[in-house]
Amino acid sequence: MGQALPRPALRPFLATDTPMLAAIFAASIQELTGDDYSEEQQEAWASVADDEAAFGKKLASELTLIATVQGSPVGFAALKGNDKIDMLYVHPSVAGQGVGALLCDALEKLAGGRGTKSMSVDASDSALEFFRKRGYVAQQRNSVTINGEWLANTTMKKELEGSGAQG
Ligand SMILES: CC(C)(COP(=O)(O)OP(=O)(O)OC[C@H]1O[C@@H](n2cnc3c(N)ncnc32)[C@H](O)[C@@H]1OP(=O)(O)O)[C@@H](O)C(=O)NCCC(=O)NCCS
Repeated sequence: MGQALPRPALRPFLATDTPMLAAIFAASIQELTGDDYSEEQQEAWASVADDEAAFGKKLASELTLIATVQGSPVGFAALKGNDKIDMLYVHPSVAGQGVGALLCDALEKLAGGRGTKSMSVDASDSALEFFRKRGYVAQQRNSVTINGEWLANTTMKKELEGSGAQG
């Protein structure tokens, strides 16, 4: 039996969170995506947070939420514009315990509150199943280049509940 995680909480991003989120980003990529990406691809992807000032600026420019357990950040997610999940990263030590779902639920709710009808995400191959389970449907495969490495992802979309024509 797994150890139950104390109930995670959510709060908005603060600039001082940047080093901690950069560490979560790198650990999440290094430990949770190895079945789908080569070591070179993982390194290129994780190195996006090496420039902490630029990484912090990006987090601040989006609607970034942090999941905490007993006050410590364990994951984060960022909404770009009103309808795009730009980042979703959970620390490997708490993976599979509902933190990703909590963050995603919150972003979908915030987007819905802004009148968004359809959410999108460029899902990593490692997160495809996570998003599929939440009702996201694959639209197209993409290849993106990050620090000289090509990585594949999939654009997925989900119609938000209550956004359809309701009789
Ligand atoms: C994808 C990710 C955010 C999921 O976070 P998580 O906290 O582990 O996910 P949860 O525990 O909330 O899982 C919710 C559901 O998705 C399922 N799930 C999560 N990750 C999964 C995976 N890799 N494969 C299959 N199912 C998965 C869980 O089993 C759970 O299913 P259930 O509702 O039937 O119990 C996390 O694995 C991660 O950070 N991955 C690496 C970074 C990454 O690829 N981010 C996405 C960028 S777009």
